[in-house]
Amino acid sequence: MKIIAFAGSNSSKSINHQLVSYAVKLVENFEVIKLNDYIVPMYSQDLEISEGIPQSVKHLDAKLSEANKLVISVCEYNGNISAFFKNILEWLSRNNRDFLKNKQVVILSASPGAGGAQTALAITERTLPYFGAEVVSKVSVKGFNDIFKDGKLVDQELNNQLVKAMNSFR
Ligand SMILES: Cc1cc2nc3c(=O)[nH]c(=O)nc-3n(C[C@H](O)[C@H](O)[C@H](O)COP(=O)(O)O)c2cc1C
Repeated sequence: MKIIAFAGSNSSKSINHQLVSYAVKLVENFEVIKLNDYIVPMYSQDLEISEGIPQSVKHLDAKLSEANKLVISVCEYNGNISAFFKNILEWLSRNNRDFLKNKQVVILSASPGAGGAQTALAITERTLPYFGAEVVSKVSVKGFNDIFKDGKLVDQELNNQLVKAMNSFR
């Protein structure tokens, strides 16, 4: 079983990238990717008609098709997922509407504040099944900077939740 993991953030210091990188170390056979490595223009129907689907989107779709399990950690911007991540979902869905078919997905979210990006997590939980995904588990991490030290989640209760979530892949 191969797991591909990434954050729905384009920040070079992304806490969600840090979280997802830690989470997959709890299991075997994983690859952490960065969506930033796929340069994708802002979606527009006009652009799609005139230029077609960007090669970068096809490359990302091909990469995702290598795994039947994903771990995605989303950041929250103003009570939503980032425009960066949503834009990539837009393009992927135009390339292949069922791009997450037969994939199990663990979804995570992290924020430095008290909300734990839970709204973005709920939006992600609702959105991914549009593309065929089965969301098998979710964990929200609040106060990230206080409980993530030296690359590890030091809050035992949250760490237990994360271990349980990662073990929910069948
Ligand atoms: C434009 C903007 C809006 C934000 N809105 C929220 C928000 O609604 N809820 C929240 O928990 N954090 C919010 N934050 C703080 C982010 O959680 C924080 O920047 C976090 O580090 C983003 O995740 P990342 O580091 O993985 O990119 C916002 C940050 C920015 C820049």
